[in-house]
Amino acid sequence: MIRFQEDIYLLLQWLKKGKTHLSGEELSSKLKLTRSALWKKINFLRELGYNIDGQRSRGYMLIDTPDIPYPWEIDLEKSSLWKELIYFKEIGSTNTFAYSLAEEGAKEGTVLIAERQTGGRGRLGRQWHSPPKGNVYMSLILRPKIPPYFAPQFTLAAGVGVADSIRKVSGVTPEIKWPNDILLGRKKLSGILTELKSEMDRVSFIIVGIGVNLNSGLDDYPEQLRDQITTLMAFTGKRFNRNQFIKVLLDCLEGVFNLLLKAGFGAIKKRWEEYFCMKGEDVIISFERGILRGKALGIDESGAFLLRRMDGNVERVLSGDINFLRSI
Ligand code: BTN
Repeated sequence: MIRFQEDIYLLLQWLKKGKTHLSGEELSSKLKLTRSALWKKINFLRELGYNIDGQRSRGYMLIDTPDIPYPWEIDLEKSSLWKELIYFKEIGSTNTFAYSLAEEGAKEGTVLIAERQTGGRGRLGRQWHSPPKGNVYMSLILRPKIPPYFAPQFTLAAGVGVADSIRKVSGVTPEIKWPNDILLGRKKLSGILTELKSEMDRVSFIIVGIGVNLNSGLDDYPEQLRDQITTLMAFTGKRFNRNQFIKVLLDCLEGVFNLLLKAGFGAIKKRWEEYFCMKGEDVIISFERGILRGKALGIDESGAFLLRRMDGNVERVLSGDINFLRSI
């Protein structure tokens, strides 16, 4: 687990500013460190993947910064929501870890990001395959003062935030499949798993877990998944700077959560419908105890899915797995 470290942040600031070598003497006096403490920090950064040239006569120069979301690489200063970023090289599931941190009192706006997950979880008890190499596995701790039945609205809002960020960085407009699968070319690019702890009338916290297949190749996934999923790189043929994407994503998410709290769900619903790809389509919904068929109408004012059955009755659906009928 890697948390923000002020001295590492400051050292990197100097190294990033310096277009040439900075002497060890200069750096250690600027940072008020002994020469050997400075040397240890330079080595720590090298172990994390920073390419730092060191020459006895000239000092240190940063050659290359890895595209890894270390807490000091993602600036949260300008945000009024995001407070702390914690990075994991490997974890079971960021959602599971975030849940226990939240139970221990972690503050709202804590962001967990992992390079890879060994036990990534999806909706409906499914597995979320989480290979390393440039994807995003992120969990957010939120503590909105709302009753539990408003929580699904946060999931739908998060879907809009993810779709906005994909559009912003790639110029490609994704689609949303209810409740919040983000699709490109009808294949899954991103999924959201929201979990909450609540009392009868008030949420204590919500964990919004977001997985985005950003830079992995399709061959990083098991064969049986390859025709159902896509990655932004596979779809566009381009590699995306992950740290840049994470900044845009956090920004877009803050935007939609603020919109939800200030303007209400109506404003999110309108934005969500711009991305919704099932309106008017024949769909099939699978539940634990059976299936339903009908026409997708959209969502209602609480975020529930509306399905027109063959007999004309409209059914409100609160959970389940929806698919296009023709793709079955
Ligand atoms: C889905 O579409 O089924 C939801 C997938 C959610 C995956 C993310 S990855 C980060 C976070 N940690 C998890 O274990 N799951 C979520």
